[in-house]
Amino acid sequence: MNLEHLKSEFTAKFGAKPRVFRAPGRVNLIGEHTDHDLGYVFPMAIDQAVYVAAAVADENIIRVRSLNEDEAIEIDFSSETRQSGWGRYVEGVARILLEKGIAVPGADLVIASDVPVGAGLSSSAALETAVGLALTELVGETIDRVELAKIGQRTEHEFVGVKCGIMDQYISANAVAGHALLIDCLTLESAPFPLPTDRYAVVICDTRVKHDLVASAYNARRRDYEDGIRILRGSFPELQHLRELFPSDFAGVESVIPEPSRRRARHVVAENARCLEAARRLGEGDLAGFGALMWESHASLRDDYEVSCQELDSLVERAREFGDAVLGSRMTGGGFGGSTVSLVARDAIEEFQSTISIAFEREFGHEPGFIVSEPATGACEID
Ligand code: GLA
Repeated sequence: MNLEHLKSEFTAKFGAKPRVFRAPGRVNLIGEHTDHDLGYVFPMAIDQAVYVAAAVADENIIRVRSLNEDEAIEIDFSSETRQSGWGRYVEGVARILLEKGIAVPGADLVIASDVPVGAGLSSSAALETAVGLALTELVGETIDRVELAKIGQRTEHEFVGVKCGIMDQYISANAVAGHALLIDCLTLESAPFPLPTDRYAVVICDTRVKHDLVASAYNARRRDYEDGIRILRGSFPELQHLRELFPSDFAGVESVIPEPSRRRARHVVAENARCLEAARRLGEGDLAGFGALMWESHASLRDDYEVSCQELDSLVERAREFGDAVLGSRMTGGGFGGSTVSLVARDAIEEFQSTISIAFEREFGHEPGFIVSEPATGACEID
């Protein structure tokens, strides 16, 4: 990211010297589609981030320019008009902060991002988090990082219409460099696990496809397993969330749930267990054991939760052909396009990228994108 360019664009447009804030995108290593049922997830922040140059302004409006979209908007709190597109993320955060009694100032913002959009790397959560941090810091408030994440999540629910969990905003606000975070989405506590990336690297492979109806399919999957939970209360009256069941408990009673709710719930139960087991293995330094669970996670998302697609499945199958050089590979994020995440031996990365690129282009007519990222730090002010 060219920060000098960001700052000079700000000064050219608004005539002041800005402060600059940054919030990262994320890649989830394991624990997929468990956060909305308040289960366990295991993401890390990536090097790519959203940057917000910001300064307090006189009028009671927020003027925002996006360098990526080459577009400017104005958020006027006294108006009923609502933003569309990327403006919803900024407006949602600002209005929710205001509702919480934070004296959101009139402000000028210039935003730039190098998180690829639609790649399943949470560019929107990074935007919400960076804007939330900027607006609170401008008025000298130190916002609690879990609170910041909740505001981003509420923005998705109330201004975008995706009933997402808290993973993306949580990791963007709280990530620890060099570590992945095991997050308990019920207690909202987390534990950092050092990720040993000396021999193996985290390689993200972006299909560069985004299938339609992601938001409605996302919400529909959620409704499916929630129906399953209601039925399971016949056998487990105290049941609140699927994390309370072991896969063996679930196997004993799943036949009472009709399809597709049964397989949706089966995924969530199994994925929570896998996520905890993955953290345990990583804690013991067993990266290969961690990777083994990533393959299982993919199969479950493909067959039971049904949020994968041909492009993602093809990338995972090709990764498997690398034998010991790839410890694990799976789709990451919401699905229906987006990216896979793989643990690839450092000395095999070049071959991995070139072989997969050629095969993928032959199959789907375009090259995938690649990102190799170290676990990055969470949202902060820079400069
Ligand atoms: C999206 C949502 C997250 C999470 C993932 C799937 O990224 O925003 O809350 O549900 O999908 O794990």
